[in-house]
Amino acid sequence: MNAPQHIVAYCSPAGSTAELAEVIEQELTGHKAAVSTLNLGNPGWEGRARELIAPGVNLVLWLGSPVYALHPVPPVEAFLGWLPDPTGRALAVPFVTWGSVTSGTALWEMGRALEANGFQLAGAAAVPARHSSLWQSEQPLGAGRPDATDKTELAGLVRRVLSGLSNGAPSGISSEVLDYQPETVKEFARELDIEKAKQNHPGYRFDQDLCTQCGICRDNCPAGAISLDPFPVRDENCFVCNTCASLCPEGAMSLDTSGMEKRLRGLQERFREEQTVRLFS
Ligand SMILES: Cc1cc2nc3c(=O)[nH]c(=O)nc-3n(C[C@H](O)[C@H](O)[C@H](O)COP(=O)(O)O)c2cc1C
Repeated sequence: MNAPQHIVAYCSPAGSTAELAEVIEQELTGHKAAVSTLNLGNPGWEGRARELIAPGVNLVLWLGSPVYALHPVPPVEAFLGWLPDPTGRALAVPFVTWGSVTSGTALWEMGRALEANGFQLAGAAAVPARHSSLWQSEQPLGAGRPDATDKTELAGLVRRVLSGLSNGAPSGISSEVLDYQPETVKEFARELDIEKAKQNHPGYRFDQDLCTQCGICRDNCPAGAISLDPFPVRDENCFVCNTCASLCPEGAMSLDTSGMEKRLRGLQERFREEQTVRLFS
């Protein structure tokens, strides 16, 4: 059989998931594996995905998502909906970063969707990270994560998957093992999704006098939801990642996250999920 083609696909509005994607890519490259990356936060991802996931390719798909309202982020959901049934041998390793409130059911959902698409799971990982809604906070939830130890642990998972591949086939896991949350969290996940979470968002303030129409918000929006008309206008594809506000050099786009921070700290206290890396292989 041909050497597998590794694809590291991810969406990472605030950069933590991209940091882990880079760890995976470097570890794979260090072992002379063939690797391509696919940024699902780039609204033009579909054309590139079609080139990479061509029929008959012997594939290992590393799929990374931040946890958003306990689920995978919308571009990863869209990618999973798009993913064609593989015609060659296909393995997958889903991984998530979560902002230290709860890792929710995102990893389990990604695992199930990948299996339903004909992929065999070779492993999975959930890694704590700084909470991307709290970039303005002095001590955001998950500050300093993912740290060097987290990344070393993840690199170990990559080596285990590679070693399984070189022995013929990794032993693999079932998505059932990703069903690790207590019923309280699963119940919360059934009630919440990003559309409902949007209702708890404090809303963006926009100051026309400060805006220079530079387009940084539009160019970096992972949902492709912003157009300049002539000032930024957001459409319904916005999934409140806050990249626009965090990157605006003039502070023209802003939001008050103090109420949200209080609520998130309350949820962290309620769920008390251990802030450790979970690896499955
Ligand atoms: C709209 C939104 C919803 C989020 N929901 C959760 C959540 O349910 N649980 C959690 O622990 N973190 C949550 N986070 C934090 C992100 O999962 C975390 O910061 C992640 O590492 C961000 O990844 P990125 O840096 O690659 O964008 C949320 C962040 C945003 C912006």
